[in-house]
Amino acid sequence: MRHHCLLLLSLVLVSYAARRSESALGGWSPIKDVNDSHVAEIANYAVSEYDKRSGAKLTLVKVSKGETQVVAGTNYRLVLKVKNGSTTASYQATVLEKPWLHFRNLTSFKPLRS
Ligand SMILES: *[C@@H]1O[C@H](CO)[C@@H](O)[C@H](O)[C@H]1NC(C)=O
Ligand SMILES: *[C@@H]1O[C@H](CO)[C@@H](O)[C@H](O)[C@H]1NC(C)=O
Ligand SMILES: *[C@@H]1O[C@H](CO)[C@@H](O)[C@H](O)[C@H]1NC(C)=O
Repeated sequence: MRHHCLLLLSLVLVSYAARRSESALGGWSPIKDVNDSHVAEIANYAVSEYDKRSGAKLTLVKVSKGETQVVAGTNYRLVLKVKNGSTTASYQATVLEKPWLHFRNLTSFKPLRS
């Protein structure tokens, strides 16, 4: 009887652990150092790609914060402060990167209400 209880408990713990690691994969985790040079590169890509596609003339001021998500590659979701002429605004940009394919795509770029 005691053994059955232990077995059941360990099964519950194992499946809980499995579910936990599943949700960690595919979840978003905060970028600790938004000053990292690779994060800056992704941010510059996002702004210049947006400008190229839309004809806007936004320039990057700084990366305010960001998160990454491991998918087939890495999604970067960054909050960017940009200059548009004399005004500054915040945007949320999402960039998918697959470094082994030298692939990058701006999948979303939208204004944030500040
Ligand atoms: C990033 O750089 C800015 C300006 O140099 C600084 O104020 C900020 O503390 C830095 N952030 C981190 C996480 O190092
Ligand atoms: C930039 O500013 C101009 C002039 O105020 C405005 O018409 C335009 O919509 C802005 N562009 C973006 C992408 O916010
Ligand atoms: C880049 O992302 C946009 C928006 O999600 C999508 O329409 C486009 O097909 C993507 N381009 C490539 C090369 O995957």
